[in-house]
Amino acid sequence: MRTVVVLGGYGNFGRRIVQALAGDETYRIVVAGRNATKAQAIAREVGAHGIAIDTAAEELPEILRSLSADLLIHTAGPFQNQSYAVARACIDTGTHYIDLADGRAYVCGIRELDAQAQANAVLIVSGASSLPALSSAVVDKFSPQFSRMQELDVGISSGARPPGRATMDGVLAYVGRPFTQWRDGSWKTVHGWQDMRSQSYPRPVGTRWIANCDVPDLQLFPQRYATLERVTFRAGVGPKYSMLGLWIGSWLVRAGILRTLVPYVPRLHRAALALAPFGSRCSAMHVTIRGLNHNNVARSRSWYLIAENDHGPDIPCFPAIALARKILRGEIHSRGAMPCMGLLTVDEILGVGRDLYLRTEESEHELI
Ligand SMILES: NC(=O)c1ccc[n+]([C@@H]2O[C@H](COP(=O)([O-])OP(=O)(O)OC[C@H]3O[C@@H](n4cnc5c(N)ncnc54)[C@H](OP(=O)(O)O)[C@@H]3O)[C@@H](O)[C@H]2O)c1
Repeated sequence: MRTVVVLGGYGNFGRRIVQALAGDETYRIVVAGRNATKAQAIAREVGAHGIAIDTAAEELPEILRSLSADLLIHTAGPFQNQSYAVARACIDTGTHYIDLADGRAYVCGIRELDAQAQANAVLIVSGASSLPALSSAVVDKFSPQFSRMQELDVGISSGARPPGRATMDGVLAYVGRPFTQWRDGSWKTVHGWQDMRSQSYPRPVGTRWIANCDVPDLQLFPQRYATLERVTFRAGVGPKYSMLGLWIGSWLVRAGILRTLVPYVPRLHRAALALAPFGSRCSAMHVTIRGLNHNNVARSRSWYLIAENDHGPDIPCFPAIALARKILRGEIHSRGAMPCMGLLTVDEILGVGRDLYLRTEESEHELI
């Protein structure tokens, strides 16, 4: 029986991954995190095994060997300043590795492990989550309709229910901080949670405010889709007061009045949890591609994913679940270290949530 270790397995996303994979009796699930009691509590619920593992543990390779791990799913973020210690331990022990990272440098830099991963015949995949796994799968699906893709605009707006602490730590780390975006064919500096604009989503979501985020797609997409002249990514949360607070915070950091908003995460997280029952239970994602079709006509194509009933927070887990199942079924023969692009289709990713309140919509316009 194959063994899957879920690191951060009782966290917001890790718990959902454990619950999804535990339904298959052909593999054994190990729930791990720094707190053995919490790991064992979730493990008991789903018939898995729970243990304490710290990502910083030097003996991580020995632990993986003792568990006979075949696959490790790493959800223990934030990934923004993390080393590749967990991925390296997986390479050393011949364990396939998937993470949910959204840190730009982390996901883009994973290729530095490629030669070692190939030499040890393991698959090391970073960013098996909404970004860049689902976003790139959507672009891959629609790119054949264009002779030349010129602009790509991606955005996500969550409902009022907050994600876990690690996600908040990660996204608040770049509030007000400079980073680069590919605009008009060159790298321009923008600032985190600024350039706020309203985005229209299909009903029942409606109009949401979204702002600049520093994500792997900003760097990966201009390389993967070479004709793109502009790539933007913005995100937001349902409550407008939260967006206003983040925008004000971004100016305080940019002006040097605050160094970072990260120390406020515990309080902001508690406040967001307390206010969640009064806010929206709908989330949305969009991918808009502008460019020339095969008749050289300028077209804009938009894809929307709408989640109701608070099912949006399940979506970032889908790529990791779909990829884990594919690896365990022996359907992926690639080896090496790579960002999660080209390994999953949109249907494979969204198929994980076929029982949830999710739907997609598409629209197409001729640009004059
Ligand atoms: N790419 C994307 O599109 C995308 C989208 C959303 C989220 N994400 C990623 O998903 C990650 C997880 O988010 P989440 O909302 O599930 O966060 P979370 O609820 O805070 O879960 C993190 C889990 O990791 C564990 N952990 C933290 N530090 C650890 C360590 N040193 N060793 C072992 N376990 C540790 C935590 O438990 P203990 O503290 O008890 O150890 C917790 O169980 C985020 O970091 C974010 O990067 C990616």
